[in-house]
Amino acid sequence: MLKGKFKIGGEWLADLFKAKTPPLIGVDISSTSVKMVELVAAGKGRMRLERYAIEPLPKDAVVDGNIQNLEAVGDSLRRGWKRLGTRVRNVALALPSAQVITKKISVPPGLREEDLELQVETEANQYIPFTLEEVNLDFQPLGSATGGGDDVHVLIAASRKEKVEDRVACAEVGGLKAIVMDIDAFAAQTAFELMESQLPEGGRDQVILLVDVGATMMNINVLQNNQSVYMREQPFGGNQLTQEIQRQYNLSAEEAEAAKRNGGLPESYEPEVLQPFMDTLALEVTRALQFFFTSTPYNQVDYIFLSGGCATIENIDNVVAQRTGVNTLIANPFATMDVSPKIKARQLAQDAPTLLVACGLAMRRFDA
Ligand SMILES: Nc1ncnc2c1ncn2[C@@H]1O[C@H](COP(=O)(O)OP(=O)(O)OP(=O)(O)O)[C@@H](O)[C@H]1O
Ligand SMILES: [Mg+2]
Repeated sequence: MLKGKFKIGGEWLADLFKAKTPPLIGVDISSTSVKMVELVAAGKGRMRLERYAIEPLPKDAVVDGNIQNLEAVGDSLRRGWKRLGTRVRNVALALPSAQVITKKISVPPGLREEDLELQVETEANQYIPFTLEEVNLDFQPLGSATGGGDDVHVLIAASRKEKVEDRVACAEVGGLKAIVMDIDAFAAQTAFELMESQLPEGGRDQVILLVDVGATMMNINVLQNNQSVYMREQPFGGNQLTQEIQRQYNLSAEEAEAAKRNGGLPESYEPEVLQPFMDTLALEVTRALQFFFTSTPYNQVDYIFLSGGCATIENIDNVVAQRTGVNTLIANPFATMDVSPKIKARQLAQDAPTLLVACGLAMRRFDA
């Protein structure tokens, strides 16, 4: 596991290795909203959720992880930051996994930093379908598996420069300064480690399926002992439910979205619209499981953790558990944290499953 030390963009890397990480906010720019989380140290190695904010984004400002409307995203960031009520302007951002090419390479032990960089660039040239001028490249030594004089594994990651620059620019428009660039799946994994500690034996050896269902995408990441063993995305999400509500009840997208969250739909909604959607979601999870089993040596999983906006649908955990036959839990990265008394517990319970990535990013301020 990367222990959250992963950064993209050589200039930040150099800065952060020297200085202790300054206070920062975790900021997840997804397709429907920007999500911001600020954690502080609460003593004895504990963390406290100090503040968070979820600020909606206008339609089509972010599509498939691409920033389409930089100004709109910047405005949402500014509004979210105001509502957050913090003084911290440094932020940790994440790129969508789909925009990053990662590759594990082996290098001889004891390389000097410059030689390691050279080696990484040479290897990157082979694996990355762009020239090095077009990409931001970063790497993270993972240590040798057995210790001793064996080769050292190094994870390299590359993303097209404009993808990185777009996000940095959004932050700037919003009056914020990007000092860390992570990858969303890694950030979610960092946050998941908090939850894993609550499983029997700290989740050791358990095969865990993380399923994030947002508005448009279902992201699957299978973990074992803090290592990702499988990743996949399937086009499925809450938009499907919103569209069905629009169609059935002749509502605009905004009306349907509001009705979905706040209720007030006719009685037929639950049996005729919501239930079928929940069944389809569970079926999609089953499909993901089947893909996982057929493309890996694994043939069972121990737990499913649901996150993302669709994980807030009441009873969705039971529907998924029944359909898959696997213990299913709703992800709450703050379950073991202290929480500021200013935060309303009920609202947090609703929002927590959507804050995994932002929380994992916020944890970057505690990097050793
Ligand atoms: N209380 C709720 N009940 C039902 N659906 C909800 C609720 N709250 C949010 N959602 C749905 O969850 C989705 C948004 O979830 P989330 O914030 O995880 O998405 P996102 O990360 O912006 O999208 P994506 O991952 O596709 O980029 C929307 O479709 C929204 O309607
Ligand atoms: Mg999402």
